[in-house]
Amino acid sequence: MPKKIYIRTFGCQMNERDSEFIAGLFLEKGYTLADSPDDADIVLFNTCSVREHAEHRAISNMGALLKIAHRKPITDKRKPKIFGIVGCMAQAMGNKLFQRLPGLDMVCGTGEIAKLPELAQKAQEKKMLATGNADKFILSRSPYYREKKDHAYVSIMRGCNNFCSYCIVPHVRGKERSRPVPDIVNEVKDIVANGIRNITLLGQNVNSYKTHDTRHKTHVFGFIDLLKEINNIDGVEKISFMTSHPKDAGIELFEAMRDLDKINRHLHLPLQSGSDRILKLMNRGYTRKKYLSLVKKAREIVPDLRLTTDIIIGFPTETGKDFNDTLSLMKEVEFNLAYIFKYSPRAGTKAARLKDDVPEATKSQRHKTLLDLQRGLYEKNNHIFINR
Ligand code: 5AD
Ligand code: SF4
Repeated sequence: MPKKIYIRTFGCQMNERDSEFIAGLFLEKGYTLADSPDDADIVLFNTCSVREHAEHRAISNMGALLKIAHRKPITDKRKPKIFGIVGCMAQAMGNKLFQRLPGLDMVCGTGEIAKLPELAQKAQEKKMLATGNADKFILSRSPYYREKKDHAYVSIMRGCNNFCSYCIVPHVRGKERSRPVPDIVNEVKDIVANGIRNITLLGQNVNSYKTHDTRHKTHVFGFIDLLKEINNIDGVEKISFMTSHPKDAGIELFEAMRDLDKINRHLHLPLQSGSDRILKLMNRGYTRKKYLSLVKKAREIVPDLRLTTDIIIGFPTETGKDFNDTLSLMKEVEFNLAYIFKYSPRAGTKAARLKDDVPEATKSQRHKTLLDLQRGLYEKNNHIFINR
């Protein structure tokens, strides 16, 4: 009987793609995918550290599984299950996870996922910890496995250099590095050959994609060049991308969105806050005015643009006035969709040195105010997209 693996993914699209990559590695070794942890020989949680809530959920869910597993007597000849925590939380917490979850067998950070089949083998004998390489590892083209039949994620880069003061990502996913163009192009061709025509290019900040085109040795190959290259691939029908950082997005991008026929006219442009004082504390590198002028340009250039954003409320020292700046900007821009998060201090980030001084009740109230506004705008602005 081939062994079975179950992978549960927490967090963002990059993690979804990493989980597919991991599944592909195990499939290549003859494993099959299990539908639930109950039927699996290996149970992996690919985790997220962006907010405390996601970490708590992963730890408590894994704790519950370990409890059940260790209560059951081993009735057959098979080796007991292997339980592993993988990804951002593994990178952030390392060894501490074995203390929090004594029954855990394996902790594998963001840079070691290619070694997972081997680590899982070794974990049959002893606990395995692998947290190196976070600054270097990049997803490669093979092996091919895609969860969905009609859409595929393509990772074009990994890591982040921006160090927004609240964000754990640069600490757990390492420095920004871009995948070589031929590797990406070949992966997109594989996807098309497998019958998928709708793709999303992924990176923490796709607008800073940068590599060298090996065909012209001196030419720097940026994100717009990559969009053009992928737009030319036969069989691709729709190309989306995320995320764009407001400090790096500009007219060139908007013109490409207008001119390249396959590009989805959707821009995810995280605002985070409408207050200049808070934006500065967040180290975002733009002002409210700059953000507004960017949106204006994007809407002038790209017909039917759909604009979505991320907002953090309750960042340390956020006053009622700062919050009102965010509220008024959201009223002015009328996003098609906004993801609104309560600030969550992350150990090791710069903002974690500031006191998390906005009371929970205030955070909840501000969160609700923005959600209510956004729900109203959602109904007002999105009806035109029904059936499209
Ligand atoms: N607390 C709350 N939200 C956060 N995000 C990133 N870090 C934090 C944090 N410490 C949000 C940002 C980012 C999105 C992916 O998650 O809005 O754009
Ligand atoms: Fe985090 Fe900022 Fe990088 Fe996005 S751009 S991953 S918010 S540090």
